[in-house]
Amino acid sequence: MVVIVLSSLGGLLAVSVVAILLASGIFAKQAYLEPWKMTYAQKFDDPRIQLAAHGILAANGHNMQPWKIRLDADSRVFYLYADPERLTPEVDPYARQFMITQGTFLEYVKVAGAKLGYKTEISLFPLGEYDEGLLVQSMKEKPVAKVVLSKAVTKDDTLYNEMFLPDTNRAAYKEEPLTASAIAQLRSINQEDDRTITFFQGADELKRLGTFALEGTKIEADVHRINEEAAGIFRFNEYQKNKYRYGFSFEGQGTIGMKKHLLQGLVTLLPFMNNEKSSAGLMIKTAQTGVNHTPAYAMILTQGNSRTQQVTSGMLYSRLILTAHTLGYVMQPLSQPIEEYSEMKELYEGIHREFAPKGETIQMFVRLGKPTKEFPLTMRRDVNEMIMK
Ligand SMILES: Cc1cc2nc3c(=O)[nH]c(=O)nc-3n(C[C@H](O)[C@H](O)[C@H](O)COP(=O)(O)O)c2cc1C
Repeated sequence: MVVIVLSSLGGLLAVSVVAILLASGIFAKQAYLEPWKMTYAQKFDDPRIQLAAHGILAANGHNMQPWKIRLDADSRVFYLYADPERLTPEVDPYARQFMITQGTFLEYVKVAGAKLGYKTEISLFPLGEYDEGLLVQSMKEKPVAKVVLSKAVTKDDTLYNEMFLPDTNRAAYKEEPLTASAIAQLRSINQEDDRTITFFQGADELKRLGTFALEGTKIEADVHRINEEAAGIFRFNEYQKNKYRYGFSFEGQGTIGMKKHLLQGLVTLLPFMNNEKSSAGLMIKTAQTGVNHTPAYAMILTQGNSRTQQVTSGMLYSRLILTAHTLGYVMQPLSQPIEEYSEMKELYEGIHREFAPKGETIQMFVRLGKPTKEFPLTMRRDVNEMIMK
């Protein structure tokens, strides 16, 4: 009798696990990871698409990948447009992170160009900056950048290979502080006067900035409309990831392998398990772990906050990530305390008062250090979809 009950329980469990794994899409091909293959860009004959195929690997706000490419009649020229269909207005009401994301793309294009044998001349806002009163319309009409390619000697750019690694690592970092020479090397990537990169690793600074990061996360986790916006772009299983190829997923939380499939399958079959309260709790717990294991923070600041400066901050951020990778460091932006929605106002003003005392705008606030574990790659769209017809 006992044997029969146990074996039927075992059978039930096995059937449930199979159902969960199938709901997760365990056998589905991960088309959403194809752009990360080093051979992906080679599928295209047009060098402009080849370069764009590298641009899409860049870090980008909320993984919205809001890039559109217009190929000019002149085969050496393409234009980058920001895609206003991919704004996240609740969390990024001034589309500042959205414009930084245009810059992260452009820097990857530049690095890929050097490797593939093209000099890339990038002119920002060739038709002028946006009309802020008609922002969406302006994004449709005015390119963020004109990119002109000319043949050049292929450079073996050490940054090239780093583009194929995950851009963001949200796990704990080792305690090891950054060496003075690493800081000097990272600082030297900035060549412009109107922006600065600052690094913080003193005990007091770590404590203050950790508090800002954590408080910001707690505030954000409590804003229902932002949670709704994030939930709307969360992909619960392999089928959804292949369908959309942008937004958030369990990989972004560092969950991989069988654990990922079990989680994906469970929330697909029982969606109530992934409710607002549990997501908020996980977000705060992840932030707490991050803050407890961060040997250094960095900021990119600009004197002023023009659209051009937002884009150039993104270019600098991409170069910072790639250079950090060559030195064995990883990073994670902690955007919450520098976001501009009303609930964050006090914290936004506080962090600017303390860390941008000359009236600068903090464009990026990140933690960085040596990783304790590798982070998985996240979804990327098919570059063909970004080509304007
Ligand atoms: C402007 C900007 C802001 C970002 N803010 C955050 C953030 O607050 N927290 C975070 O964990 N990641 C942040 N990221 C990282 C993106 O979420 C990440 O690049 C995107 O999801 C794609 O994942 P990947 O970088 O691992 O390829 C930010 C990236 C950019 C460019």
